[in-house]
Amino acid sequence: MKVLVVGAGTMGSGIAQVSAMSGYDTVVVDVSKEFLDRGRERIMDSLQRLSKRGVDPSTVLSKLTFSTEMKDGSGAEVAIEVVPEKLEIKLDVFKRMESILSSGSLLATNTSSIPISEIASGIERKQMLVGLHFFNPPPLMMLVEVIPSKFTESDAMERALKFVKSLGKVPVRLAYEVPGFVSNRVFMRILQEACREVEAGEASVEEVDSSARAIGLPMGIFELADYTGIDVIVDIWNILKQRGMVDVPCSMYSKKVSTGELGVKSGRGFYSYPAPGKFVKPKLNSQPKVPPARLLSLAVNEAAWLISNGVVRSSDIDTVMKLGFNFPKGLVEMAREIGLREIENQLLQLSSKYKAYSPVSNFTSILS
Ligand SMILES: NC(=O)c1ccc[n+]([C@@H]2O[C@H](COP(=O)([O-])OP(=O)(O)OC[C@H]3O[C@@H](n4cnc5c(N)ncnc54)[C@H](O)[C@@H]3O)[C@@H](O)[C@H]2O)c1
Repeated sequence: MKVLVVGAGTMGSGIAQVSAMSGYDTVVVDVSKEFLDRGRERIMDSLQRLSKRGVDPSTVLSKLTFSTEMKDGSGAEVAIEVVPEKLEIKLDVFKRMESILSSGSLLATNTSSIPISEIASGIERKQMLVGLHFFNPPPLMMLVEVIPSKFTESDAMERALKFVKSLGKVPVRLAYEVPGFVSNRVFMRILQEACREVEAGEASVEEVDSSARAIGLPMGIFELADYTGIDVIVDIWNILKQRGMVDVPCSMYSKKVSTGELGVKSGRGFYSYPAPGKFVKPKLNSQPKVPPARLLSLAVNEAAWLISNGVVRSSDIDTVMKLGFNFPKGLVEMAREIGLREIENQLLQLSSKYKAYSPVSNFTSILS
């Protein structure tokens, strides 16, 4: 089978590599040779590292073709758009994809925040488009969220799920699309509660992060913000707010962006790093201060909302947090261990002040 990947950047090169590693003839298209060369280098570096685990770089490279011509992708049964997060660029790519692909080809977008239905509305074969939300770096991260638009045919969804499994990845299927999918909705809630704690004077940045590490999260919450890029967080947050997700007041992240402290990429964010782009795990000198039930409260409420609205099952949320965010356990699993009543009490304490903290009805039974 032939796969077309359009965009050879951070995500596109990784997705193309995964596709080639799964034995698919993979054509990577980008706007210039320079971008393609960069993508190819990223793939070679990754393959070099994977060769220690038995991957043969030359076999994988033989499956890859790099081109600036969309027509080289003709005959592809699956085409994945991985270009910058701008609707007009994505629509232009789909228009050119549709002109060279047969009507039965599966179309996918790796957008992290543009509604799939909005992209689908601008293309011809709307029923063939799905969201395939890969995580960075695609060769290592096992999770792919699979999201239908309001136009997606069930057959296209089934094919997408099968394709993701054939890549050796774990798909989490959303019954219908919600802004931020599952991953970014829950992730934003974690960042929002961390911000609230600091801005309310309940704990310092380091105390919040010590508390997160103490419950086994792989990173402190502000450490994760630095790692992700604080500008990326502010962008996603704004999009979710615009699309109606109940907001929480917080100014810390946007203040950091306005002073150019973007996190690891700029060498400074909530912590300082040796050089821009060089991540060294921050040393924390503070003790954990925030109770686990409070730290996770808003995220768990979001999980309850997703389950009660039939978007996913609780086990899917656990899969997203384990495979997309390297949580040691699922979020719902952790919530049950901490105590659902205790988490609900935390939410109730804050709910008179902030709407997002009102526990969804039947909070404990939904999550039990
Ligand atoms: N970076 C992440 O962690 C991440 C995670 C999940 C999803 N995403 C999503 O994946 C998509 C790509 O993100 P990225 O981080 O790989 O971006 P990137 O900037 O690293 O790469 C984008 C690539 O697209 C190319 N491009 C631009 N216009 C093009 C066109 N008209 N035709 C062909 N190629 C074109 C660029 O030259 C570049 O190589 C975005 O929608 C983003 O939201 C990113």
